[in-house]
Amino acid sequence: MILESSVYKEIFGPLIVHEAQKVIKFDTETEVVQSSLVNNIPREEIYNVLKDLAIVIPLKNEKLHLLDGVLKAIPHKCPIIVVSASQRDIPNHYKMEIELIKHYYSLTHSQVMIIHQKDIGASEAFKEQGYFDIIDENDGLIRYGKGEGMLLGVMLAKAIGAKYVGFIDADNYIPGSVNEYVKDYAAGILMSESDYTMVRLKWRHKPKVMQRGLYFRRRGRVSEITNKYLNLLVADRTGFETDIFVTGNAGEHAMSMKLADIMSFSAGYSVETHQLVFLLDKMTHPNEPEKYKDVYDQGIEIFQIETLNPHIHEEKGTEHINEMILVSLAEIYHCELCTDNVKKRILDELYSRKILNKGEIPPKPHSMSPIGGLDIKKWFAKLKKKSDTLVTLK
Ligand code: GDD
Repeated sequence: MILESSVYKEIFGPLIVHEAQKVIKFDTETEVVQSSLVNNIPREEIYNVLKDLAIVIPLKNEKLHLLDGVLKAIPHKCPIIVVSASQRDIPNHYKMEIELIKHYYSLTHSQVMIIHQKDIGASEAFKEQGYFDIIDENDGLIRYGKGEGMLLGVMLAKAIGAKYVGFIDADNYIPGSVNEYVKDYAAGILMSESDYTMVRLKWRHKPKVMQRGLYFRRRGRVSEITNKYLNLLVADRTGFETDIFVTGNAGEHAMSMKLADIMSFSAGYSVETHQLVFLLDKMTHPNEPEKYKDVYDQGIEIFQIETLNPHIHEEKGTEHINEMILVSLAEIYHCELCTDNVKKRILDELYSRKILNKGEIPPKPHSMSPIGGLDIKKWFAKLKKKSDTLVTLK
């Protein structure tokens, strides 16, 4: 794969944030490309990473056709982990997902596991380790929410020995783009000089159907706003304006397990913004610097790759968009680095969009502490023993 070189990057404490890098040629072999303007990552190296890269698919009542396309597009060597929050009473959507996955496995023999987010064993395994951040007080099981599903997926990825974990939404209409996303993750991982790596994807276009035909939008309605305030958060602290952050809501992203171990996740749809806010907040001013010596020595590299493919997924309406704007801006509003000036501007944004009424402040999103300290072997053994929904095919 040939990507633009990372010419510009910004450094905040141990964070090294690379500017967006476009994919220029999707598939290349080992020939050296003689240009300092681009990075050539040979296909063979990308394929070597895939076996260590588990792909987590968070899933909630999506069309089975879309899930089918996503599964079939993920390269064969990547273990797949589907974390489903789909309905289980009539009609039992989860049962249909299992049937689809069994059929997929019988045709492909690609390693895949599926678990329901309300799995009894999964909640028991967390509780046994004293980890209650993910537990729903009402039913004692794991809470619903995209962030919670992702965290369960990270634990399963770690349990099966993955070195990297990537996330792909299940509602993607273009299997070819899913195939690209996974390889973009691998390319980012290979560009990193640190064991602490995150790769966030910025799609090139998000097409909309208009009267005149397809219109290829460059920016998403939520990410445009989130990125603006993330950049403002940094500018207000450093005194230097920046537009370095372009992936504040990157649902498609991957990270090394070493980074996942020290990363906090947040509930629901605030999870992607939370990751950046958490790293800015906690890593630029850590409470226990000695605990993070290796992180400081190596740095945390954040790559933002602009995909070749457009992103076409299910559109879920204005209410859903407003909810995502609210929780993303709430993350920024409540972070330690946020100045009064940025807080005021966030409130003005939310009031003018009528997402909040004047005088209200955004509720603080729930966050879940890092999972690095949990005993993963014990956790997995407990989950398997008590599970009522796990299906593992390999
Ligand atoms: N396991 C699980 N649990 N999965 C969930 C849950 C849940 O509670 N809620 C949603 N999902 C799944 C969906 O089925 C889908 O596969 C994926 O998470 C994304 O959810 P969507 O509801 O489709 O979100 P979106 O497409 O509007 O937004 C996506 O893109 C944004 C950036 O453009 C999400 O990935 C956002 O998090 C992201 O910021």
